[in-house]
Amino acid sequence: MPLFEQPLAAHLRRIANYMRGCGLVPWPRRRSPLRTELAAFIRSHAAEVVSEWMARIAPVFDIQASLMPEISQNMYDALVRWAKHIEDPSNTETYAYLHQHARHGFISHSPASRFLSGQMKIRLLLLERLQTAYAADRRRLAELASLLDQEFSERILHITDFFVEAHEEALRNEQESHKRLESQLIQSEKMAAIGQLAAGIAHEIRNPLGIILNAVYDLGQIVDTDKPEIGEDLQIAQEEIARAQEIITNLLEFSRDGGTELEAVDLNDLLRKTLQLMQKYLANHHVTVETAWGEVGTCFANQNALRQVFLNLITNAVQAMPQGGQLRVRTQRHDPTQVRIEFGDTGVGIAQEHLTDIFNPFFTTKEPGQGTGLGLSVVHSVLKRYQGTITVRSEPERGTTFLIDLPCPCHQDAALSPADVT
Ligand SMILES: Nc1ncnc2c1ncn2[C@@H]1O[C@H](COP(=O)(O)OP(=O)(O)OP(=O)(O)O)[C@@H](O)[C@H]1O
Ligand SMILES: [Mg+2]
Repeated sequence: MPLFEQPLAAHLRRIANYMRGCGLVPWPRRRSPLRTELAAFIRSHAAEVVSEWMARIAPVFDIQASLMPEISQNMYDALVRWAKHIEDPSNTETYAYLHQHARHGFISHSPASRFLSGQMKIRLLLLERLQTAYAADRRRLAELASLLDQEFSERILHITDFFVEAHEEALRNEQESHKRLESQLIQSEKMAAIGQLAAGIAHEIRNPLGIILNAVYDLGQIVDTDKPEIGEDLQIAQEEIARAQEIITNLLEFSRDGGTELEAVDLNDLLRKTLQLMQKYLANHHVTVETAWGEVGTCFANQNALRQVFLNLITNAVQAMPQGGQLRVRTQRHDPTQVRIEFGDTGVGIAQEHLTDIFNPFFTTKEPGQGTGLGLSVVHSVLKRYQGTITVRSEPERGTTFLIDLPCPCHQDAALSPADVT
């Protein structure tokens, strides 16, 4: 385990070892009258020490008057917790607190030197009071001062480690989010490159395909169609060419070569019509539809592109429910500028290890000939064009939900600033 991921108990053990090994522990770490006396002294002087401390440090650390009561209270509580540890070294509440707060609490908001100098000042103020109170008993004063120093050294060692640990942790988090961003970037560059490649190929293939389709049609007119095998073969050829053309349409949409004209789109209406269009397909696959239309209004987008998004998601949902099931389509406006569209199914779900791949072009789990793996890539690239996002939640064997969040200002605003949504 790296040094700075150690739990509190390991910190405490390690620093106790350092202190013992370096001969910094003249006073054993167990209860004693001396410890009780010092703890009682700290407790009884805590209030006045904190008040003098605050007056001294506030201008140096630029502490606003409004924050002084809270900081004073925190320091008072910290002193009382420290006194408990001094009296009974097995009570480590004070370090549990510092361990926690160096990461998430007020301590983490300032540099270590600032916090440590504040602590040093507290020690000095306590020492001054000890010197006054025990002026007549120099032996006891020496013992108490030495115990105070021992405990203070231990405290400083802990605080130093806690600070470094907290910063290491922050750095690690930053590196992780940097890595995530980087891989997202690589991903989107990869998608763009594949998109361009696909567009090039699609253009090249579209024309010859059109010619082949015409030729097949002509052949159908010319040849002896009494022979059923010939008619059947021609029919198959036509169907397969149509399928290839559909794939090309997808590829072109994916590579942004599809229609991009913007228009006012009534989202609920478009979804209703899309579902109507697919009514037969849904019924044939024993899929019932549950809808919930929110007040989402009109969006400024390309209607064909959005329809393509909906078609792809609905088709995927149906394909995920080979025995039938339920499709949920909901719209909802979160806030004035965001619309959420939900597509849920009760299908087979998506395996955890596939969740990161499903938006990749050509990723498919379907049999060859059943899916090209372009559906969700198209969805992703269309939504990206409108600065929308899509997220997926899935539970194998229970179903999948795709959530689309689309920035969608109300119609008037959108119409005024189409540039914002392109
Ligand atoms: N609703 C869903 N339920 C379960 N799996 C899904 C769902 N939607 C997508 N998937 C998974 O994601 C993969 C990729 O989907 P995508 O739509 O991109 O391609 P496809 O459906 O396989 O092929 P195409 O859409 O090109 O015909 C699918 O093969 C499937 O494994
Ligand atoms: Mg699909």
